Amino acid sequence: MRVLGIESSCDETAVAVYDARRGLLAHRLHSQIAMHQAYGGVVPELASRDHVRRLLPLVRGALADAESASESIDAVAYTAGPGLIGALLVGAGFARSLSLAWGKPALGIHHLEGHLLAPLLEDPAPSFPFLALLVSGGHTQLVDVAGLGRYRILGQSLDDAAGEAFDKTAKLLGLPYPGGAALAKLALAGKSGEFVFPRPMLDRPGLEFSFSGLKTAALVALRGREASEQLRADVARGFQEAVVATLAEKCRRALRLTGHRRLVIAGGVGANLQLRARLLEVGRDCGAELYFPRPEFCTDNGAMIALAGCLRMQAGLVAGGAVCARARWELGLAEDSPDQGGRVATAG
Ligand code: KG4
Ligand code: ZN
Repeated sequence: MRVLGIESSCDETAVAVYDARRGLLAHRLHSQIAMHQAYGGVVPELASRDHVRRLLPLVRGALADAESASESIDAVAYTAGPGLIGALLVGAGFARSLSLAWGKPALGIHHLEGHLLAPLLEDPAPSFPFLALLVSGGHTQLVDVAGLGRYRILGQSLDDAAGEAFDKTAKLLGLPYPGGAALAKLALAGKSGEFVFPRPMLDRPGLEFSFSGLKTAALVALRGREASEQLRADVARGFQEAVVATLAEKCRRALRLTGHRRLVIAGGVGANLQLRARLLEVGRDCGAELYFPRPEFCTDNGAMIALAGCLRMQAGLVAGGAVCARARWELGLAEDSPDQGGRVATAG
């Protein structure tokens, strides 16, 4: 079983070839960050147009890297949502066209399922069941993963996602979009404890998150002061410590609550080194093994979509052939095929 995976939900065009026996054979990615940076964020129409330009050369390149002729591909998996609708439709239409031309099935994959399964690209890979902390630009969720397509959200952010909070605070600190990694770098020079920002939702029971107040706290800390390099670094450090402490404590609670012995970290913020170090401590305290994808598979990539497609093909979880794109799509419904239920943009 060999699957071509296509990711185009936001500002990365990414493709990969995954083989059930041999693992990941190739992956290629084009980041649109430089193009969007001038606008301080993603411009959806520009994103869609760029996906159109990039997809075909990336697929040709990945097939060549994998030394795979198109005949050796058994299915084409693509991100069907959630994401920018125009960007999703480019990937979905392209994937379905390839699948029709090659006479192979196309599978619409939930973007967050891709992130959740990304640690399975690594060795050792976690086995089901596990607890997952999904921390991306658009989502912060604790997910109980019973098996492929069996996801239960235990808690999520009531407002900004962790990555969004990183990006907004980075902007306040004068860092270019997307600011998560740049803020983390700046925080290295910051003094711990100089700013102690609120740990949102820690004073309440439960597994919900709230991060929107943190950017306000950072704004207040910066206001009226000369924004020296040291001050900016101290604020970055204080912000990062507050996010990391919150995420770590909620993981500790969720591990205790569920009794899971494996914790998987997924999504772009999972690349954060301070978060990784802190979660390793939590894992040790709770007797849980930790699994992280390598940093390039924390952020958006085609490998996770190809892998999810391959696992779904093997499990016989293949939907009808409609072209599917859903801007909004709850993860708990990932076991549903993307071309069933409401709010679906489909075309034959
Ligand atoms: O998963 P992802 O690539 O995209 C979404 O599906 O949203 O995550 C991107 C997010 C951005 O908000 C980015 O700033 C953040 O991940 N990010 C980081 C780091 N690297 C990426 N946040 C904190 N520390 C990092 N090292
Ligand atoms: Zn993502």
